[in-house]
Amino acid sequence: MKELSQKVSSFKDSIFATISREAVENQAVNLGQGFPDFPGPQWIIDILKSTYHYEENASQQYAPFAGVLALRESVSRQYLNKYSIGYSPEDEITIVNGATEGIFCTCLALLNPLDEVIVLEPFYDSYKSSIELAGAKAIASTINLPDLSIDFDHLEKCVSSKTKMLILNNPHNPTGKVFTLEELSKISILAQKHDLYVLSDEVYEFLTFDERAHLPLAGIKEMKERVITISSVGKTFGMTGMKIGWVCANEKISHAIRLVHQFNTFSVHHPSQVAFAKVIDQSDYYLQQFKETYQQKRDFFFSGLQKAGFSPLKSEGTYFMMCSIPNGLDDVTFCRELIKSKKVASIPPSSFYLNSDQGKKYIRFCFAKKDETLSLALKNLS
Ligand SMILES: Cc1ncc(COP(=O)(O)O)c(C=O)c1O
Repeated sequence: MKELSQKVSSFKDSIFATISREAVENQAVNLGQGFPDFPGPQWIIDILKSTYHYEENASQQYAPFAGVLALRESVSRQYLNKYSIGYSPEDEITIVNGATEGIFCTCLALLNPLDEVIVLEPFYDSYKSSIELAGAKAIASTINLPDLSIDFDHLEKCVSSKTKMLILNNPHNPTGKVFTLEELSKISILAQKHDLYVLSDEVYEFLTFDERAHLPLAGIKEMKERVITISSVGKTFGMTGMKIGWVCANEKISHAIRLVHQFNTFSVHHPSQVAFAKVIDQSDYYLQQFKETYQQKRDFFFSGLQKAGFSPLKSEGTYFMMCSIPNGLDDVTFCRELIKSKKVASIPPSSFYLNSDQGKKYIRFCFAKKDETLSLALKNLS
């Protein structure tokens, strides 16, 4: 039998699948993978139910490949109303199968073999794979733990004549960092100086805590033309199974991304797009509550971990919390030990790094869980 593709042979099964399997085998409370263990809001379920009555013949067939216009229009209104950023629904917004497909299509649309892309480690694992599937190479600069600082001199040293893009994730998984205006301005200056595209993954845009505001990179002066903003419904509405996302970029970049999307998945589940067009338009009150609920969960889990003798980093955003390992074990060994001895599953973050070994000293918990689940986990940990 001939060999598999060289690109794929370097990929491994994701750590999430491994940990989830071990969590089930050991009947552990699963605070590993990033999704809620409770149903999405009833008002959204009602909208989904009414849209899934397939009397309207139109939504049984392929959706337009760029996405249902009504959804692109509601996404456009959201950027305008919340951030004063104008994206044309016709030419600058593309609906994709979740942010992950948006990241993949952006890499395929913009990168050539041997191009380099700067990622800030620890990073969401699809970045490196998408970069490599495009034949390009990921170069990492580190978000330092525990102070979440960035060495901007090092970041600039990562730029070479081959660098084409930088990937930013803000708010940041797994550290919970929310980038400040000063940091975003520095990234913008760097991108402009070296003529880089910036893919800005903002899937946790509505989860910022303690009065911190989410600042979209495209809203920074003179950045909109070079930024590809990606977000999705999964995290915001607590329904990661929906897999509806969007990519916002200037017309030329959007056109290239649409060409890749066309030959990748072609289009996204039609009735769900119709439903989420309505959901987004009605989401103002929900989004405020959503933030408050998760801030309470963050506070409850943070103080619970402290009482249990751990040293967590108080997340500024997202629904993840990094926690340092108390006994000198490496992250993978410690995670496995916690699953077996304490019946609590977390994620070892070292696989989200290319350079630094800081990730070996931490584990990541997801606190998007029912209060009972968090209480049980804390009881087991204490
Ligand atoms: C930073 C980041 N980006 C993207 C995604 C995936 O988003 P989607 O489910 O819309 O593909 C995740 C999911 O964990 C994530 O953490």
